[in-house]
Amino acid sequence: MVCFSRIRVLIRPLFVSFTAISFIFWFYVINSLLGNSVSIKRNSPTSHQSNPIKSCPLISPKLVGRINLSSEAIAVISEEDEDVLVSRMTGQLKAGGMYKPSGCKARSRVAIIVPYQNRKSHLTLFLRYLHPFLQRQQLSYVIIVVEQFMNGAGRSPFNRGMLMNIGFKEARLLPDKYECFIFHDVDLLPEDDRNPYTCPESGKPRQMAFSIDYWDNYRPTPSNHFGGVTAFRVTDFQLVNGFSNSFWGWGGEDDQLYQRVRFHNLTVVRAFDDQPSLVHLARYKTLSHVKAKPNPSRKEILKEGPIRYKTDGLINLRYHRVDLQLRPLFTHIVVDIQPKQRQAVAFNRVPGHPYLSYPYSLTGT
Ligand SMILES: *[C@@H]1O[C@H](CO)[C@@H](O)[C@H](O)[C@H]1NC(C)=O
Ligand SMILES: *[C@@H]1O[C@H](CO)[C@@H](O)[C@H](O)[C@H]1NC(C)=O
Repeated sequence: MVCFSRIRVLIRPLFVSFTAISFIFWFYVINSLLGNSVSIKRNSPTSHQSNPIKSCPLISPKLVGRINLSSEAIAVISEEDEDVLVSRMTGQLKAGGMYKPSGCKARSRVAIIVPYQNRKSHLTLFLRYLHPFLQRQQLSYVIIVVEQFMNGAGRSPFNRGMLMNIGFKEARLLPDKYECFIFHDVDLLPEDDRNPYTCPESGKPRQMAFSIDYWDNYRPTPSNHFGGVTAFRVTDFQLVNGFSNSFWGWGGEDDQLYQRVRFHNLTVVRAFDDQPSLVHLARYKTLSHVKAKPNPSRKEILKEGPIRYKTDGLINLRYHRVDLQLRPLFTHIVVDIQPKQRQAVAFNRVPGHPYLSYPYSLTGT
């Protein structure tokens, strides 16, 4: 149905025979979807009868396996003419970067939340790459980009956690109800479409980006690593009160989310936990490994974690939505997240060194 010829051309022809592997993989997916389909039936028995559309197959026939992500292949994707690309893709997508498979009912309804500031080329590639990827998995999804507004006075440090919380809250306002969320950095690309972007089981958030090219050549990250790409069911994210809003600048917010998840006795899972031989299907490519400047107070804020679980997160989220646009490939939300107190502090910093004199106060919230 979709003309992905451009992408298909790039695929390595190595994965024609993946019967055995995909059998095990889909066994994993079936397990993770079981609770899901039960709750759909329970919620809407009548619409199920009046609308006899079948669920999509457990094994999507559109999967292609590993994708060529060489720099040449990336250049081909990045350089396609914008108008050509948009008119090709909008045949399938609804405005705002929303998608539902045609002809069958998706087994997962997923909102992808992407925190963003100032990384145009990464975002362009991410969208062009991820849409066909998700569509091959026959998911129902939306891509929401939450951009941290930069005002004339300069910008405050990036607050990844707060942008994720905002994406969650805004997605909950959409008419389509998404069952789960994948919080996704813009510079990470999944290398194989057999890496499931389906909803995780309830009580089991999924750490997805645990095998990353720059991180020791794909060696699985430590079990307490919870950054990059993580998936949650709505109820679990609400249970842990979302991310902390208190981490300004690089680092800490993901560690704190892990603490929250552990505190609530949720189990973090990774794809192919039970099939170590398939872990290579969960690999990610990074678009850049230039690390942002770490937030110097992240360790102290992290230590304060437990006293923040209840009060700092979804529950005290305050922001000003500057703009919301349904663009062809994504829902674009621009937010101003500098609370007044912090603004005063931020303006005192050393010009050109946004993190150097940022005396974050633990009592500030
Ligand atoms: C990946 O794609 C590029 C550009 O189309 C091509 O030059 C290269 O040979 C491909 N690499 C592999 C391993 O298929
Ligand atoms: C987590 O489990 C421990 C041990 O069973 C229990 O004491 C604790 O109350 C649980 N925490 C929550 C938040 O349910």
